[in-house]
Amino acid sequence: MSVMNETIQGLGLVPVVVLNDAKDAVPLAKALCDGGLPVAEVTFRTDAAEESIRQIAQAFPKMLVGAGTVLTIDQVDRAVAAGAKFIVAPGFDPEIVDYCISKDIPVYPGVVTPSELAQAVKRGLKVVKFFPAEAYGGVSTIKALAAPYPMVKFMPTGGVNLKNLKNYLECDKIAACGGSWMVKGDLIKAGAFDEICKLTADAVALAKEIRG
Ligand code: 3PG
Repeated sequence: MSVMNETIQGLGLVPVVVLNDAKDAVPLAKALCDGGLPVAEVTFRTDAAEESIRQIAQAFPKMLVGAGTVLTIDQVDRAVAAGAKFIVAPGFDPEIVDYCISKDIPVYPGVVTPSELAQAVKRGLKVVKFFPAEAYGGVSTIKALAAPYPMVKFMPTGGVNLKNLKNYLECDKIAACGGSWMVKGDLIKAGAFDEICKLTADAVALAKEIRG
C-alpha cells in the first residue's frame, strides 16, 4: 500500500468539505486539526475550492488536503498546483484516473459496480471511493465487491454519519469513511468552528474506539 493510502487508512475518516468562501478555509482546517483529524477533501463543487486548498496547504503544510468532486483534467492541475495532495472523483473517469497515475498523483475514483472496480484494479489502484455508499447498499455491497477483488479497499462516502460509522469502520475492507457530517455547510456558514471541532473530535473518538 502507498504511503498516502496508509495515511488515509490510519486516519480512518476523511471530512468532505464544501466551502463557499475561501475565508472559511483556514478556520475550518484549524477546527479539523484541533479535533484530531488533519485531513480534508475540499470539493470542486464551488468556485472557492481552489483558493481554499491553497490557503489550507499554506497554513497547515502537514495537513493532508485533497480535492474532491474533480471532474476535469484542468481541475486536477489546478488542485495540485494549489497544494492538493490527492484527488477524489465521484465516478470512474478513465481519463482522469490515467492522467493522475501518469503524474504520480494519488487518485480515488468512485466505483459502485464490478465493471468499474475491474477498471480500477487493472490500473493497480488499491483504494477506491465507494459513492454514494448508502444508496448503493453500504457495507453489504462493499463486502460482496471485495470477494472477487480482495486486493482493493474502499472509502465509502454518501450517507455515512456518526450513527452508521461503526458498521462501516468494523469492516476490514474499508480503508476510511468519508462524509460531511462533521463539516455541515450550515455550521461553516454560521462560523461555528468550535462545533465543527467538537463533531470532529467525537468522530475521531468513535473511530479510535472501533479500530483501536
Ligand atoms: C461526497 O461527496 O463524498 C458526498 O457527497 C458526501 O456525502 P455526505 O454529505 O452524505 O456525507
